[in-house]
Amino acid sequence: MLEAVGSDLGRQWERETTVRVMTAYVAHELNHPLGTIINLANTLSRHLARSVIRPADIDEYLKGIKAEALRASTIIKQLRLLTERRPTTRSSVCLTEVCREEIDRLRPLADAKQVRIRLEVRTGRTQVNGVKELLGTALYNVLINSIAALDDPKISGRKLIIRIAMATPETTTIQVFDNGCGLPEAIRDKIFEPFVTARENGSGLGLAIAGDIVRWHRGRVACHSKHHGTCMEMVLPSEQTLGQEDSK
Ligand SMILES: Nc1ncnc2c1ncn2[C@@H]1O[C@H](COP(=O)(O)OP(=O)(O)OP(=O)(O)O)[C@@H](O)[C@H]1O
Ligand SMILES: [Mg+2]
Repeated sequence: MLEAVGSDLGRQWERETTVRVMTAYVAHELNHPLGTIINLANTLSRHLARSVIRPADIDEYLKGIKAEALRASTIIKQLRLLTERRPTTRSSVCLTEVCREEIDRLRPLADAKQVRIRLEVRTGRTQVNGVKELLGTALYNVLINSIAALDDPKISGRKLIIRIAMATPETTTIQVFDNGCGLPEAIRDKIFEPFVTARENGSGLGLAIAGDIVRWHRGRVACHSKHHGTCMEMVLPSEQTLGQEDSK
């Protein structure tokens, strides 16, 4: 009896924890597109007030705002997939495309922080089976951490390298290297757990979200860090058919 009560309470606690973490994930992920929308809208109004903008450029700003709003609504729907047990339609996703899109989104921030980003594609096997926007979200969270780790005037030649490579005959890896401050020793073993942070304004959710997304794709995450620099790694099962073609 006690055991039954215990396991009921256990299940309820698990459900409540899932809801709490998922609510935090959604709030966290809405912050990125909302922040970009506010920035784009502010810049656009500044240009309009000074009447120094061409109609084509106004259109570019509006396109950016629409794209981010769409991303916000998509991510709310897709994050829910992580907790659902029913099968989901996955499609063929090109990791190079995912990387390029997230680099483009972060380019203005990287330029402002003088961070050079390089993409190296070292395998022809870049297709995985999954949900593109979720993989983009995972990568974005990893990249934005690297940019934060490089935000120190003492670091010269701030570099961020994204490498797509074959990990094993069945898996493809995205590795993100930076020459930033390195992972703090105290939290190194638990950075993929929710609410673990060493940053003053951090919520400790970016890597937990990235880890959940990668595991949902039946992959795994890892990190390696020295005093100067960090490598974050997302290893994903390659799409079977392409894997077979490649190995011929
Ligand atoms: N590339 C990196 N270099 C150095 N430290 C890192 C790096 N990536 C992550 N970290 C450390 O891991 C911690 C957890 O990262 P995580 O993205 O989960 O949370 P956060 O960045 O603190 O907050 P947020 O929820 O806004 O992402 C960070 O606070 C930071 O200390
Ligand atoms: Mg983060």
